[in-house]
Amino acid sequence: MPWPSNVTGQAGWLEIDTNFSASLSGAGASDARVKDAVQRVFPRLARQTGIPIAPHIAAGGGTATLTIIVEERDHRPPQRLGDNERYALEVSGGHAKISADAPLGAIRGIETFLQLVQQNTSVTGGTPSAAGFSIPDLTIRDEPRFAWRGLSLDSSRHFIPVEGIKRTLDGMAAVKLNVFHWHLSDDQGFRMESKKYPRLQQYGSDAMYYTQAEVRELIAYAANRGIRIVPEFDMPGHATSWLPGYPKLGSGPGPYQVVHAPGIHSALLDPTKDYTYRFLEGFISEMSKLFPDEYFHIGGDEVDPKEWNESPHIQAFMKKHGFSDAAALQAYFNQRLLKILSKHGKHMVGWDEVLHPDLPKSVVIQSWRGQKSLAQAAREGYQGILSAGYYLDLMQPASQHYAVDPMKGETADLTDDQKKRILGGEAAMWEELATAENLDAKLWPRLAAIAERLWSPESMTDSASMYVRLAAVNHWLEWLGLTQRSNLELMRQRLTGADSAASLDSFSSVLEPVKEYERHAENYTILTPLNRLVDSIAPESDPARNFRDAVDHYLSNSKSAADAEALRKQLQDWSDSARIAHPILEKNSLLTEDIPAADSLVTLCRVGQEALSSLSSDAKLEPDWKQKSLAAIADAAKPHAFMLIQIAPAIQKLVEAARIRE
Ligand code: ACM
Repeated sequence: MPWPSNVTGQAGWLEIDTNFSASLSGAGASDARVKDAVQRVFPRLARQTGIPIAPHIAAGGGTATLTIIVEERDHRPPQRLGDNERYALEVSGGHAKISADAPLGAIRGIETFLQLVQQNTSVTGGTPSAAGFSIPDLTIRDEPRFAWRGLSLDSSRHFIPVEGIKRTLDGMAAVKLNVFHWHLSDDQGFRMESKKYPRLQQYGSDAMYYTQAEVRELIAYAANRGIRIVPEFDMPGHATSWLPGYPKLGSGPGPYQVVHAPGIHSALLDPTKDYTYRFLEGFISEMSKLFPDEYFHIGGDEVDPKEWNESPHIQAFMKKHGFSDAAALQAYFNQRLLKILSKHGKHMVGWDEVLHPDLPKSVVIQSWRGQKSLAQAAREGYQGILSAGYYLDLMQPASQHYAVDPMKGETADLTDDQKKRILGGEAAMWEELATAENLDAKLWPRLAAIAERLWSPESMTDSASMYVRLAAVNHWLEWLGLTQRSNLELMRQRLTGADSAASLDSFSSVLEPVKEYERHAENYTILTPLNRLVDSIAPESDPARNFRDAVDHYLSNSKSAADAEALRKQLQDWSDSARIAHPILEKNSLLTEDIPAADSLVTLCRVGQEALSSLSSDAKLEPDWKQKSLAAIADAAKPHAFMLIQIAPAIQKLVEAARIRE
């Protein structure tokens, strides 16, 4: 995952053992990124297989286990949008060969190679004799569908330490994402060190920010994995954290403080003062030298015009320039910003609110409020990136994101030339309700489904197949050190203290956090600890989805006694775990809020079992049973402590199908 554009399997396999070696050749072999990627193959293989594999890189081709040929040197770093990522991987005759036109292709091909290493028991097309690891013989020709495949990560609301960013970059490289869009400032925190304007981080960050040395290290780390880093400094809105240190930048009277509440705040940069542009010239000049990428994101979203409307000098300025509304003033601001960015060799990227007739076509539009803005931008001549539908913070299932395609829906009837303006897409992870501790679980494995949407052929739309591969990739990613499962286990174990977490693990495995922005209804700030059960569960429950599929299968096809028994047993296990967890929930103040969820789960399991009994025996249910059961389900399906019991819809189907006495 992502599935290659072209793959054919053959019988046979390549054994991975302690004699594993690699060779690197071709004009591009001297590329530092390729060398780094090849070096990393050895420890990763050793870790993944447990086989002692010493680094051994031969110069020319020949007899190495893995031969890597990179035909061309790239232009030069930094990596650019559209750089060639194509590769071929051939495994046959006891050897593997990766051929790439250019360095990035080799980096992508190496990830494919590593992902294909399997325990011998699961090898397809033959059964290797000994226990161990191998790669099936096959031929892959692969290249991405879109050139811009990103993750937008908010490090402002909750700071993510350097190690968390590195883990994220490792995961991104593993699924061939190539843009890390880094949301570095917002109302709640300014996370970037400026040497020119040090009061930005001193007054705007609670001492949690990235030093320039750390940023340089992360840029190099990303570059070695074929990932560009695009910084975002959100302005003129979402900009409160600029202002405690530099209040003259603000549109209001001040004084300003970093805010801890989520939501849209009214502090805006003042677009009418020359001081603002002199400041931004200085800041952007500094940041442009630090971040080598050609693209620079200026945010531009969710400008609440209150401060502008209430300021006499801003109103006078608008009148003088003939600006009829805040959007016109924001377009003026963006035009001046664009001049500064151009001077420093940067292209401007902005959220879709920046779309305005006064802006030149060189601006890249990131569509987040719906695919319509992407279509509109492309029609009007702008390049665009799709993020609407890829918001991981909304806690939606992978299948929902997988179904979103940059070229479907509103964009489907664009002309070919207009379609070419759609560069790709970006998942977005906003961090109001996520922390460094559970970040991985908020990203993975769902991000891999979006990565596949953006890399693989448009025809890859079968979500059942996606889920099978997603489960495999989820486990594989853990070999890279990602913590999407382990950290949630740790958090739940912490909640149960000295008691075993097994019952809580089982009972909570069918829970999911509430969807969309429902949890924002809670009265919280970014200082509120995120250490409750809702913070310790995965966004998507695999057991609940599997149960739903099993119920569908049972009701539509089999109605077999064995299937009914398996479903009943599953419900009994969940019900038992909720009962066993009960005393643990009662005695821990962080868990008492979860008692209604446990009780509701017991009810759902009972109702489901009763329905199954009626379906697999002659004993019909009483006439009022159905109505009572549906009412109980409706109650159980409501949010409990900001969580949903995700087996409720499948239980309802069983109840609808139950056999009732006439
Ligand atoms: C956004 O989600 N406000 C870009």
